[in-house]
Amino acid sequence: MQGFLDWKPLHHSSFERKTFMTTPLVALERISKSFPGVKALDEVSFEVLPGEVHVLMGENGAGKSTLMKILSGAYQPDSGTIYIDGQPTAITDPLHANQLGIAMIYQELTLLDNLDVGRNVLLGQEPTRGALIDWRALYAQAADTLHALGLDIDPHAPLDALNMGERQMVEIARAARRASRVIVMDEPTSSLTKSEEETLFALIERLKARGLGIIYISHRMDEVFRVADWITVLRDGRHIETRPASAFTRPELIALMVGREIDTAVKRTDGAIGQVILEARGLRLGRRVRDVSLCLRAGEVVGLAGLVGAGRTQAAEILFGATQPDAGTILLDGKPVHFASPADAIRAGIAYVPDDRKGAGLVLTLPVSTNLILAALERVANAGVLSIRAIRETVAAWTQRLNIRAASPRMNIELLSGGNQQKVVLAKWLSRQPRVLILNEPTRGIDVGAKAEVHALIREIAAQGVAVLMISSELPEILSVSDRIVVMAAGRVTGEMPARDATEEDVLALAFADELIMEHSV
Ligand SMILES: Nc1ncnc2c1ncn2[C@@H]1O[C@H](COP(=O)(O)OP(=O)(O)OP(=O)(O)O)[C@@H](O)[C@H]1O
Ligand SMILES: [Mg+2]
Repeated sequence: MQGFLDWKPLHHSSFERKTFMTTPLVALERISKSFPGVKALDEVSFEVLPGEVHVLMGENGAGKSTLMKILSGAYQPDSGTIYIDGQPTAITDPLHANQLGIAMIYQELTLLDNLDVGRNVLLGQEPTRGALIDWRALYAQAADTLHALGLDIDPHAPLDALNMGERQMVEIARAARRASRVIVMDEPTSSLTKSEEETLFALIERLKARGLGIIYISHRMDEVFRVADWITVLRDGRHIETRPASAFTRPELIALMVGREIDTAVKRTDGAIGQVILEARGLRLGRRVRDVSLCLRAGEVVGLAGLVGAGRTQAAEILFGATQPDAGTILLDGKPVHFASPADAIRAGIAYVPDDRKGAGLVLTLPVSTNLILAALERVANAGVLSIRAIRETVAAWTQRLNIRAASPRMNIELLSGGNQQKVVLAKWLSRQPRVLILNEPTRGIDVGAKAEVHALIREIAAQGVAVLMISSELPEILSVSDRIVVMAAGRVTGEMPARDATEEDVLALAFADELIMEHSV
């Protein structure tokens, strides 16, 4: 058995880790893992100390999730050792990891759609009375957990009544209940906006104070520098650097991740802003969409900002014909139109990239190449015959353009890293050359380098005359990519402004306007 005095730091760092004083809660030593065609991890060492937030950074496909799946028992390493409190331990499966006090919030949500919130939070930990589940206790405990996290979610609510942000909070609640040693958060804020983020950060502080170790994965720099005590950078499955967060500058961190210097500033390739192509007047749908009017012009990027739950996704789905509004009109080129289904909208030249890549964006069981060309079929089809060459060229061009990392275009897309899946979703719709492009959280989970590329691409598409509506919860993205910003709160458009001289505060003031509306509408 390895006592804590014998513990040696596992990798070279010019910065002293306090591993000579404290035994890491968990330590991964020289872990390797290969998948067909790719060495996902190559002798990576990593550890987390009590009360520490250790951020794991790296490009899409760098191996972050794979390393964490090994820690949480979902994958077995090909070689290497895991130490729990200094003792070598084989983690056989996720349940075993839970018993060791390790809980993970997966990047792809793992909630069960057919169960309600309470059952999801307590899944596998259901309180019993004799041989039966004690339902009353179950919902009471779920309510306690949700309440302790400051979440206003009904434990009896069916899961499909929740939006992505709320689902993510339920996933977090479930993990927080289970973690007693280490909690792994793989892009926990990808669907959260400011207020939910604050709830999460407050929770992280409480977990730290209780001596838990937190492993945090994110592509958002602001967030990383806010929560990180230490940062470890992975690149191409290798350990590159471990330092205290304060010992990195942003450009340095980015350069270490991508292996070269890159410029993340959005290059504006402005074209002329033309005619209104799509217009919505007075859209209403139940309580989610109360009054939405907006217009999209050729060549213009409209950023749609707001908090999770503001009704942005519902409004977009109405524009795309996926849901029917209770009231309101949609005009295309100035003429009223009715989209009975997405097929109608697609025929009219509207493309929608949803925020839920698992649900609507991808066919997970099909290869990367098929997903890429699904939406572009008619472009690669030649007089009704699919040209293999055209397909190959389309796939190769987009793979290169967005730096999609797949061992082979024939591999099933569900095996790609999260960020690479998102790039395929984008490419799939961009290759369609729509007139109106609606993007819902287009860079969720995408690394800094590829994000800059996606931003440039959005500007370029607009410059070609496409009307773009970009829903994003990342204010820097809204401010830097848009020409005009429309803000929604509680189902209404609360204001709009040119993006040029808008500030985060301007947008937030309108995004929080619903609290004022609520006060006055009762
Ligand atoms: N089950 C699997 N089968 C085949 N390949 C896999 C599997 N899981 C991961 N990979 C591959 O391993 C590599 C590392 O993936 P991983 O998901 O760890 O990346 P990541 O750093 O989490 O990236 P992201 O930021 O995009 O989430 C990728 O090339 C990915 O396609
Ligand atoms: Mg990942």
